[in-house]
Amino acid sequence: MRITQTTLQKMVENNEKFTVMTCYDAIFATLLENAGIDVLLVGDSLGNVLHGENTTLAVTLDDMIYHTRCVARGSSKAFIMTDMPFGSYQISPEQAFENASRILAAGAHMVKIEGGQIMADTIQFLTRRGIPVCAHIGLTPQSIHQLGGYKLQGNSEKSAKQLLDDAKTLEKSGASLLLMEVVPAKLAKKITHTLSIPTIGIGAGVNCSAQVLVLHDMLGLYPGKKPRFVKDFMAGAKSIQEAVANYVTAVKTSQFPGEEHAF
Ligand code: KIV
Repeated sequence: MRITQTTLQKMVENNEKFTVMTCYDAIFATLLENAGIDVLLVGDSLGNVLHGENTTLAVTLDDMIYHTRCVARGSSKAFIMTDMPFGSYQISPEQAFENASRILAAGAHMVKIEGGQIMADTIQFLTRRGIPVCAHIGLTPQSIHQLGGYKLQGNSEKSAKQLLDDAKTLEKSGASLLLMEVVPAKLAKKITHTLSIPTIGIGAGVNCSAQVLVLHDMLGLYPGKKPRFVKDFMAGAKSIQEAVANYVTAVKTSQFPGEEHAF
């Protein structure tokens, strides 16, 4: 049976963590969901890991639709969430609806949108018209040039309050999930306890409702230095399947992320 938003919400109510991993093609979609991944995220990180770009900014709507279709063909169980790429939703709620509807038609069950309170009207517009949304706050890679680099967000009193206010507003606007990237673990815990929708963390500590990693990162395929929040699950595993299954167990038992992966 296909995992739905309701399944995820129920898992959280039953104190069960759910697992998310990025996925860009059919064969990995089958492998990941058979290894126990609940949510396949067709992330615009495909710009980095598949296209070799330094940022996600050049990823197009057609790229996201193509990879969503590939993932959907390989999947029969997982919930599928797809990133809306840079420039495809920021102009107006109407623009966002037009593009999100194409992503859903390709097989996604939810779209992910980066940004805080500025995205509230768009999220309200989409969710009132039948398009479920995951809001993404903290380190939002599509704003990398504004943020001035891939660095910790919400680490001052003022910016932490801003992120908490953003989270509350986005939930009120209709977001069904909130993803927090590279924020202090203490702040992510506070936001998770404040909201009633599930939270997904990446570099946000262990106290989120779910965890996500980029597939290539958790398989040890990263160029250069390993980011603090990444664990190489391939180290010591006999197969990719085993590495993914170990990630699932580690998330569900709150052994990952450890303090060494958090801020
Ligand atoms: O595109 C992506 O892979 C993401 C994750 C980093 C959460 O948005």
